[in-house]
Parts: sequence; structure tokens; C-alpha cells
Amino acid sequence: MSNSTAFNLLRASSPVVSVGILTADLLSLGSELALLERSGVKAVHVDVMDGCFCPMMTVGPPLIKALKTPLLKDVHLMIDEPLNKVADYVAAGADIVTIHAEACSHIHRVLQQMRTIANAPEKGLVRGVALNPGTPIEVLEPLLDELELILILAVNPGWGGQKFIPSAGKRVEKAKQMIAGSGREILLGVDGGITRGNIAGVAAMGADLIVTGSAVFDGKTPEPNAKFMLEAVKEGVRRQEPEDRS
Ligand code: DX5
Ligand code: ZN
Repeated sequence: MSNSTAFNLLRASSPVVSVGILTADLLSLGSELALLERSGVKAVHVDVMDGCFCPMMTVGPPLIKALKTPLLKDVHLMIDEPLNKVADYVAAGADIVTIHAEACSHIHRVLQQMRTIANAPEKGLVRGVALNPGTPIEVLEPLLDELELILILAVNPGWGGQKFIPSAGKRVEKAKQMIAGSGREILLGVDGGITRGNIAGVAAMGADLIVTGSAVFDGKTPEPNAKFMLEAVKEGVRRQEPEDRS
């Protein structure tokens, strides 16, 4: 579905910063989103946790539907067995739905199902597969024809504000090689532990989607925080080796 608008938007604006709302003021979400829109952010990252795949429970389709925003809705499903549950998130307006390889008995089937349920055919759905830090990258190999996004987790799923696990850098490199060998256009994302101090480095690794939550919403200044992150990403892109930028 690489001709979908959401996919093309992401590709054209790569690297895109997707801001996680887990640590936002959930009772003032409308104004929190307005701050993100004003700062120039293009995507909002919603962490869905079911209390089974990871210990915490967060939100579901009704909240995603309630997000009235032009931002791309980037939905990260940290839930067990998403087969037959994904449609509700797509109906709620998700532009990107990312499932976890570790959470599915039949991940290929879930991706096939996602291909058939995109909410607006002219818009399409970006199908993502996320990997925990302990999962070998090779599990993606048989799935490369059925996904548009690989999301490398740099923390174990569960909470915002954790520390970036350094081995994520090598994993991003491996995933990039796998994508290059696939002959397909696949986006690469990194999620977890991305701060003011390391976001430029993550952009320099060549990530297309960079998820950051607490670095924007902790404290009282989300708008300048978001602007800082966007500027730092530009700085990281400038650092990239020329051959990586083709
Ligand atoms: C981890 C989540 C991440 C996380 C991002 O379970 O998938 O999206 O909340 O938050 P920070 O940027 O605080 O690590
Ligand atoms: Zn996430």
C-alpha cells in the first residue's frame, strides 16, 4: 500500500517526529494537541496497552476517535492477539497501526487482514510491525511484503520515560540492510527513550519515524520542547553520511 496518502506523507516528510501522548495531560488533550499542531509536529503517537502484553492499560478506539486533529494518528498496539481488533482502530481514524511481532500467533494473517480493512482506500493504512529489544530482527524477513513500517523499540514496552537501550542502534542498522535487500519501500521507526540529548543521533541513523513522548510532555512547556526536537532532527539529518541520504 505504498501509494497511500499517509505513507506518501510520511515518506515525503521523513524523518517525521511522532509525539507520544502517554505523559500528556489527558484531561486537556484537545489543547495539548493544539500545541503540537502549532509547533509543526506532523504525527501523534498513541500507545495502546492492554494490561496483558504489557503491564499497564491505557486507551482504546474511542479515545483515538475523539482525537480531533489534522495530525497523523500513529497507533502503537501493545496488545495480545490483535487479529479481529485492528478494524476498530482503523475505523477510529488511525493512519498508522503498528502491531507487535511478539503479541501475535498469526502475525502474517493480521497483516493480511489489515490490508483489506483500510478505512479510506484513497488514504490507505500504514501497517507497522514493532519489535521488542529482545526479539531478533530476522523475524521480519517473511513479513516484508506485508508491511510498510518497521518500528524498533529502544525500550521494553510498558512506560514512558525509560532509558534508551544502546543496542537499538545496531538493530536499526540491521533493519535498514534488510529493507534495502527487500526491494520494497519500507519506513523505519524508532520508539522509546528518545530525548533532547539523543534525538539528533537517532535522526542521523536514518530513521523515518521518531517517536518521543516524555521529552515533550514532561514539565510545563510542550510547545518549545516539540520545537526543540524538530530542530534537533534537522541537525541529525545534516550529520548523515551523504550515501545514506540518497
Ligand atoms: C513504550 C512506548 C513508547 C513510550 C515513548 O512502551 O511504546 O511510545 O511511551 O515515551 P518516551 O519517549 O518517554 O520513552
Ligand atoms: Zn509507542
